[in-house]
Amino acid sequence: MKSMIVLLGPPGAGKGTQGEKLQTELGYIRLSTGDMLREAVRNGTELGKLAKTYMDSGALVPNDVIIGLMKDKIQSLGKVPGIIFDGFPRTVEQAEALDKELDVDLALNFDVADGELIERLTQRRSCPNPSCQAVYHLVYNAPKVAGKCDKCGSELYQRDDDKAETVKNRLEVYRKNTFPLIGYYTDAKKICTIPGTGDINAIFEQVKKAIQ
Ligand code: AP5
Repeated sequence: MKSMIVLLGPPGAGKGTQGEKLQTELGYIRLSTGDMLREAVRNGTELGKLAKTYMDSGALVPNDVIIGLMKDKIQSLGKVPGIIFDGFPRTVEQAEALDKELDVDLALNFDVADGELIERLTQRRSCPNPSCQAVYHLVYNAPKVAGKCDKCGSELYQRDDDKAETVKNRLEVYRKNTFPLIGYYTDAKKICTIPGTGDINAIFEQVKKAIQ
């Protein structure tokens, strides 16, 4: 089974949803830069204050900040059987920095059309509990009790960057900065593209096949 896996795809493609399943069903450690930054914002740390100024508009947090954050995190984990990188790398510079830390085995790229991405993000609800971070959709992946997380019971919330205007900017930022990573991992012969639409469990079956 592949151990070091990068999840690629535009905002709303399902990286968090599939990453969470890889974590709970197959025991991978999931490192989500978005979750780490949102926790820093909630805790009011210096990193959080800085990150918020970028995240609120849908821009990327500067490379040096993110690379430093991830390097520390990877080194603090020591030797682990497998890591899922969710939301990192997001630029070629970040991918090159990751390659210096460890060998990426596979980049899983989720392909979803823009119209569906906008609809998904504006109807997403997230769990704020740092040890849970589950994600839901009001229609396609609704919680059993409206407004409450199935896993930990926390009150669900709508992310500030899931408002329609910010979502459009995030898609543009993705095209300009992150889309080139498809070429980067294609050149490295490490990419597998999976259609990210349809039943979430059926997509997970394809994910499991790809990581075998
Ligand atoms: P981050 O939190 O990483 O956001 P993102 O990449 O924009 O990704 P999302 O979390 O929005 O989407 P996702 O692909 O995980 O989709 P999900 O599974 O939730 O980053 C946020 C911000 O932090 C960035 O804008 C930037 O400012 C900063 N940042 C983070 N990392 C950075 C980095 N490396 N460098 C610089 N800055 C960084 O699914 C979305 C919705 O769709 C959910 O409601 C879900 O239930 C639903 N859904 C999932 N699958 C399906 C399906 N098959 N059918 C129907 N609905 C589905």
